[in-house]
This record gives sequence, C-alpha cells and structure tokens, in this order.
Amino acid sequence: MKIIVAGATGAIGRQLVPMLAEAGHKVVGLTRSKSKTSVIEGAGAEAVVADVLDAEAVEAAMRAAEPEVVVHELTAIPPVVNPRRFAEEFAPTNRLRREGTRNLVAAALAAGSRRIIAQSIAQAYAPVGNWIKAEREPLYGGAPPVFRDTFDAVIDLEATVLGANGLESIVLRYGNFYGPGTAYGRDGSNAELVRRQMFPIAGEGSARWSFIHVRDAARATLVAVSRGEPGVYNIVDDEPAAIADWLPVYAAALGAAEPPRTPAPRSAYGTYGMLLARGASNSKAKRLLGWAPRYASWRGGFAADLGLASNPGS
Ligand SMILES: NC(=O)c1ccc[n+]([C@@H]2O[C@H](COP(=O)([O-])OP(=O)(O)OC[C@H]3O[C@@H](n4cnc5c(N)ncnc54)[C@H](OP(=O)(O)O)[C@@H]3O)[C@@H](O)[C@H]2O)c1
Repeated sequence: MKIIVAGATGAIGRQLVPMLAEAGHKVVGLTRSKSKTSVIEGAGAEAVVADVLDAEAVEAAMRAAEPEVVVHELTAIPPVVNPRRFAEEFAPTNRLRREGTRNLVAAALAAGSRRIIAQSIAQAYAPVGNWIKAEREPLYGGAPPVFRDTFDAVIDLEATVLGANGLESIVLRYGNFYGPGTAYGRDGSNAELVRRQMFPIAGEGSARWSFIHVRDAARATLVAVSRGEPGVYNIVDDEPAAIADWLPVYAAALGAAEPPRTPAPRSAYGTYGMLLARGASNSKAKRLLGWAPRYASWRGGFAADLGLASNPGS
C-alpha cells in the first residue's frame, strides 16, 4: 500500500516509518527540513519536504504521492515543557491540530486517499466519574485556562478527521509515550527531572495515567493502516495507574532515589495531573483492531527500556 506519514521524523514517526517499510508498504515521509530527508530515506521511505501549515504545498505533495493512506503524527512539543508556560508551549501544537489537520484532510481528499489515521491523546478525558475511560466518554471541553486551548484543539482535530466525508477516518488516542526518543526515555526531560528529585508526587497522587511504549503505539498504527472500522481507539497499555504507584517504579528503573512527596497542588495544572486525570481502557482496540501491546504494563516496559531487564519490544 502507498502511505504518507506526516510527522515521519518525530518520536512515533521514527518508529513507524521503518515498520511500515518492513511490512512491504511504499512509504513517503513528510518533513519541513531538507536536512532530515536522509533520516527518512535511511528508514526505507521516500522523503518529501513540505510544511503542513502551507495548504498549497501539502496538497502538491499529496497529489504527487497519491497515497491510499495518510498518517497524521504531527505535533510541535518542546523537548522540555515548562508547566508555568504550558499554554504558550502548546500553542504551535494546537495550531497544527487545527490548521494542519484541516490542510492534511483537504489534501488527502484532493489526492483521492481512502483512509486517514490521526494521532490524538488518551489524556484528554473529562476528569469526572469513573477512573478508566472508554472511547465513548466525553473529552475535557471547557477545561481551566492553562490547558483549555490544548484540549479544545484535540477535540477540533478529532472532529475534523472524523467528519471528513469520503475518508475512512481513524483516530488513535495514544497514552503517554515512553521509550526511545520520548520525554520518559533514558535521555528524556522527565527522566532528568526524576533523577534531580524535581518530579514529586503531590498530595495523594491519585490521578490515573495511561502509558504506552512508543513502539507499541507504532505497531497499533501499522495495524490500523489496513484494519479497523472508522472511529476512535485508545492505544494504551493494560494498566492505567495512579501516579503514586507508577512514579516510584519509574524512578527505581532509572536508578534514581524515591520521588519526593509534597502537599496537594494548588494550581489547576498540578491538580489535574496529580489528582484528577483519568486513565483509559484499551479493550476496544484489542477487540476491533486485534492489537495488543507487547508491554502489557509500564512495569515491564520501564524496566526493559531503562535497562533493568531484557527488551522483548525492540
Ligand atoms: N502521547 C504522547 O505522550 C506524546 C505524543 C506526541 C509527542 N509526545 C512527546 O513530545 C516530545 C516531542 O515529540 P516529537 O519528537 O514527536 O517531536 P515534535 O517536535 O513534536 O515533532 C513531531 C513531528 O511533527 C512534524 N512537524 C511539526 N510541525 C510541522 C509542520 N508545520 N509541517 C510538517 N511537519 C511538521 C515534525 O517534522 P519535521 O520537524 O521533520 O518537520 C516531526 O516529524 C517527545 O518527548 C514525545 O514523547 C508525547
């Protein structure tokens, strides 16, 4: 199959492109930078240079490639996110999710593509009611100002993709990535915060987080290229967990000291991340995509990725 990957050079794109090529697909990877084309070519794909915020350029790239399937893995997340500047730091990603998604969908339709698969997040469920969310449950519209625009842009992305008449639209709500090239990888920014005792458990640490190894997320995307009814799928592991449970295990896997405990957070950002956030269930993806993560739990995944166990996921 001919597949274009927008976001071919990002954390998930770098895992996905070689998997698609090895599975026998003809892959075109999109980047803004000529300097990154060799990375894409080295992974067994053809590279095309275009900025998705330039509607004409992305349409020209898509018409030239004529892909059957379009994969949207576009974000613009800084390597280190400053919580105090969260709204500003996510503004470029929000723009990509709104404007970039619209340009990509329009270009896919112009090029006669059949299916689009777009990256969303499993961390955007409204923090009310049950702790583990299925896809039918509502997202967090009208969130506090610090992340309102981020969640609204996610909702906008999903509506644009799912509302695209003439395309089989699949939205993959990935859990928190860990593994190589992510903020939780050995050299990632969150690993550094944990080593420096700057990632505390605040209050009860009751918020549930869903994780997914970045290679398991890429494998789910590979499956969704050729399987699955249009719709939304949570791509998370089997063990959504309270931050008070997973963070000490992550710190131990890094060889770092126990995370410090601090009083309950007062900011909206801290309250959501530490006390309110919901986890997600992967049962729909297991049932309808026939996919299951190789790392069923972050417990084995952290240990394998950070070097304390063998690595079956590589
Ligand atoms: N679910 C999750 O937990 C999740 C999801 C996504 C990211 N993250 C985290 O965020 C951090 C950064 O992610 P990342 O490495 O994927 O990098 P990123 O800087 O967010 O970039 C992702 C991709 O988007 C492409 N891109 C951005 N703007 C574009 C534009 N205007 N036109 C065309 N392409 C554009 C980039 O391509 P070029 O630069 O080649 O143009 C790159 O391939 C990592 O720690 C990652 O783990 C987490």
